[in-house]
Amino acid sequence: MIKKILTAEPVIEGAGVRLKRVFGFYEKGEFDPFLLLDHFGSSNPNDYLQGFPWHPHRGMETVTYLLEGSVEHGDSLGNKGVINNGDVQWMTAGSGIIHQEMPKKYDGNMQGFQLWVNLPGKLKMTEPKYRDVLAEQIPVIQINENVKVKLISGKYLNNEGAVTDLGIDIFYFDVNIDNAEVFEYEIIPEYTVFAYVYEGEAIFFDSKSVIEKNQMALLEKGNQIKVTTNKSVKFLLVGGKPLNEPIAWQGPIVMNTQEELQQAFEEYRNGTFIK
Ligand code: FE2
Repeated sequence: MIKKILTAEPVIEGAGVRLKRVFGFYEKGEFDPFLLLDHFGSSNPNDYLQGFPWHPHRGMETVTYLLEGSVEHGDSLGNKGVINNGDVQWMTAGSGIIHQEMPKKYDGNMQGFQLWVNLPGKLKMTEPKYRDVLAEQIPVIQINENVKVKLISGKYLNNEGAVTDLGIDIFYFDVNIDNAEVFEYEIIPEYTVFAYVYEGEAIFFDSKSVIEKNQMALLEKGNQIKVTTNKSVKFLLVGGKPLNEPIAWQGPIVMNTQEELQQAFEEYRNGTFIK
């Protein structure tokens, strides 16, 4: 069953980027191990060209999935590049990374998502790393002519997602359903699982629960998920094992204690943040 339905809310982030936040307003661990989900996108470059100039992260991961558009990035490890239509960038901030993410002018509807995944205490100070995954490296499972599942990470029908060497167990799928077909997936009972509809509308479990575009359904634990639609739908289906650890979170830094948080900001100020 559905535990909660949220509608993405407009926020301004970075140097003035207009985007929609699905969750991440400090929900006190309700989405554990996930911290935040932003849905960015616009056909007006003035909404996003300001980008996300140099800023730090520690103790968590950011997963950027670009549906359409092109985003230039650079970081304190010396990585530099551009992600384009359908590409994913999975960044483990670990002990600390300073990076920038700058969307480039795009003729069309630039659109994508950034998910923040928390790291357990034992991995918060792990070595930072970047994984750039090209669209063509992401397995697409065509279940039938109307149901398609893109496996960014996690397993579906014995197929393994593109990103495998993760610190914590999570799955991240992009599911497309046409012609009122049905999609089913067995959820690991203790996982936190949510679905975010970014196009069309989805019907979960029964006809009473219709989730519209820009809405997210947080699911009750221990379900077999069943999704259908009146016509077509595109949604993210994401799940992970809760960490059940205290969260000390300020801006882009997420630790277990206030002391660790203070130390991170102090190190950022005095130039010893990068290990
Ligand atoms: Fe960032």
